[in-house]
This record gives sequence, C-alpha cells and structure tokens, in this order.
Amino acid sequence: MTQQFCYNQFHVMSSTQTIPKVVSANNSLQFCPLFTLATFRTSPKVSIKNAMTAKVIILKRKFEGTPTLDNFKIVEEKLRPLQQGEFLVEARYISVDPYQRVYPPKVGQTMLSEQVAKVIESQNNDFPVGSSVVGEWGWRTHTIAKDVAGEFCLRKPRLLTGYDGLSRSLALSVLGMPGNAAYFGLLHMGKPMKGNTVVVSSAAGGVGTIVGQIAKIKGCKAVGITSSVEKGERLVKEVGYDHYVSYNSKNFEKDLSKATKDTVHCYFDSVGGEISSSVLTKMKKFGRVVICGAISTYNSKIKATASEVQTTVKVQHLVMEGFKVTRFKDQWDEGIQQNLQWLKEGRLKPFEHIVDGFSNTPNAFIGMFAGQNFGKTIVRVG
Ligand SMILES: NC(=O)c1ccc[n+]([C@@H]2O[C@H](COP(=O)([O-])OP(=O)(O)OC[C@H]3O[C@@H](n4cnc5c(N)ncnc54)[C@H](OP(=O)(O)O)[C@@H]3O)[C@@H](O)[C@H]2O)c1
Repeated sequence: MTQQFCYNQFHVMSSTQTIPKVVSANNSLQFCPLFTLATFRTSPKVSIKNAMTAKVIILKRKFEGTPTLDNFKIVEEKLRPLQQGEFLVEARYISVDPYQRVYPPKVGQTMLSEQVAKVIESQNNDFPVGSSVVGEWGWRTHTIAKDVAGEFCLRKPRLLTGYDGLSRSLALSVLGMPGNAAYFGLLHMGKPMKGNTVVVSSAAGGVGTIVGQIAKIKGCKAVGITSSVEKGERLVKEVGYDHYVSYNSKNFEKDLSKATKDTVHCYFDSVGGEISSSVLTKMKKFGRVVICGAISTYNSKIKATASEVQTTVKVQHLVMEGFKVTRFKDQWDEGIQQNLQWLKEGRLKPFEHIVDGFSNTPNAFIGMFAGQNFGKTIVRVG
C-alpha cells in the first residue's frame, strides 16, 4: 500500500474506537485500523521513545480552496539523542486553528500549531521529566524541544502549573491563544460597556464561545451568529448568549434586526464577507468593530468580495480595528490569569471539540471549516 493513506477510514473516534496505526516500509506508510486506543496509550512510551521515532504531519500539497486530506501526509522522523538544554516532548493535545490555512508551511514542512505535551526525557533542568508543557511544535507526536519562541505564536514553551482538577487541553483553548484573542480583542478594542449589545460572528467556535461569555460578564447583551439552529440553540442554552442568528436563514437580515434592535455597539468579527457587511448596517453611531478574522474568505479560490461598507463606517463614525493576538504577547499572563479566575468562579465555561487520534488531525482541521465543532477544536493524541 505504497503512499496510500486510508484516510477514508479516519473518523472522529470515541476513546473505545480503533485508531489507525502507522507502519513504515521503504519510506511508505500504511494505515491499519487495528489497534485500540488502549493499546496506543500503553505501547508508545516504550516503543516510540526507545526507537526515537516521531510521526509528523506535513503539508503534502499546497492548499487550493477548502483543505482536503490530500493536502497532508504523515511521515516518520527518526529523532537523534538530546543535547544539553534540550528536552523531548510527547504530544498529548494538538491545536488545529484557522490560521494554519492562512499561513501554511512550505510544502514538505510540518503543519504549525501549539500543542500540550509531556516531557519524557530532558537535558534541561527547567523542563523536568514528567512535567506538562505547552509549546509551538506543530502536528507531530514527538519533538526535540528547546527553550525558544515558536515562529508563529512567538511564545516560548511554558510549564503548565495550577491545573489541579483542570484538563491541560485548556492551555489550547480558554487558557491559551483563543482565550487571549477573546479577552484582549473584546476588552481592549471592543471596549464593551454595561448594557451594550455585542454581536459575535463564528460565535460557536473556539474564540466565539469565550467572547460571548466575557460580554455577559461585562453586563452586555450578547448576540451570536452561527450556521444552524442547532448550534444557535446551544449558544443560548449552554454558552449564555441572549440571542442567536443563523446566517443560513433566509431571513438573516430580519433576524439580525430583531435580535439586535438595529443597535449594535460592538461587533467582534471572525468571519468577514457579506455577514459582516450586514452587521455593520446595524451598528450604532461610534460603534466599535473588532476584526479578529475573516474565515468566510480563507478557502475562497476567487478573490473575496463583499458589499461596500465605507459609507456606513463614515456615516456611523465607526471605529474598526484589527489585531493579531501576538500583539499582546507581553501581557499574555494577564489574559490567562483573568480567564482562569473566571473559570474557577464558574463564570466562564470551556467549550472544546475533542477529536481522538493523531492521524485524525487533518480530519479535525477540515471538520472545523465545515463547522463540525462547537468550541475549540483540539486533537487528543493519547
Ligand atoms: N486575530 C487573532 O490573533 C486570532 C486568533 C485566533 C483566531 N482568530 C480568528 O478567529 C476566527 C475563529 O477562530 P477559531 O479558532 O475560534 O475557529 P472556530 O470559530 O472554532 O472554527 C471555525 C468556525 O468558522 C465557521 N465558519 C467556517 N466557514 C465559514 C464561512 N464560510 N462563513 C462563516 N463562518 C464559517 C464555522 O462555524 P459555523 O458553524 O458557525 O459557521 C466553524 O466552526 C478565525 O477567523 C480565526 O482566523 C484570530
């Protein structure tokens, strides 16, 4: 089965389902759904560590339009012995994020992302064996790590402490990059005031589920935009949004007017395109628009277009500001600590969409663009 990926066998698995096994032969890979997750959990500590072999997902083919399984390839990489200052990490949770579509690696290189990992060997006293750590090591099972900042998230590896009773996956969601995008984006740029109406697009996603909750903590009315009635109802019942609007509804404009009373003080925008052009027409004078992302355009093969908004921005004196969360790298812990406190007080709930199995990482990524997630998409490696 040279170079054949049985990706059609990959699916989101519960912890009792089978996972694909990678077998290397002449630099080709085979995937066989033979081993249970229990087998995966107990065996690799010995076999992978001793053999010092990492499984790595690389970009096989440049993205064109919506990502497909054909864009990715799993390869094996033999790891060398550690040098002074290095430590060997074994992935536990891997983050998949929209930015990996926007800023892909070069063909043949490892997909970028943060992961939560366990230190399994160390030549660095600051990262002792057994410690949990978050770092930017990409879609790979094992990594020889150093105490240096990653290329994209610009953060050095951090030990995870104070997680008693909490899942370490939270370091990739509410207590990590998406939590800080929500926290700094909404509070520093959206500047919501008590009684304001805050509209959030991609409200059911990793960032959006947190933005809505912070808006509620700040005494605002929160209106979430999502793709379906099912997700919308969860936004209201589980996340705490006051209203939802489905952008797939024929009555989207009308529903939006009803939910917001045509008075939007703050718009936290993660999707761009026509959805956002519509929201802008509902903004109150001096309203604030926070541009977090534009996911509706990421997979467009043609140059994305949307209705003209400049007139509305001018007439309504709107303030629009975009941001990359790395802008707040020097204040990073402020966001993490505040979100942690709200979490411990029960005012902020984490929403995570966990997909099991390293080999399922591409599926998790593709599923996120299809809106299969509710909350932050995270791959549980084992
Ligand atoms: N500025 C920053 O530093 C920063 C940091 C993190 C994330 N972001 C941005 O924030 C946004 C959300 O990121 P996330 O990690 O929280 O992802 P996410 O919202 O958890 O997942 C993506 C969601 O996008 C929605 N979506 C997909 N295609 C769409 C389309 N054509 N039109 C409208 N919605 C679509 C889907 O939800 P529905 O089912 O509701 O459509 C899907 O669940 C992205 O734009 C991302 O680039 C920016």
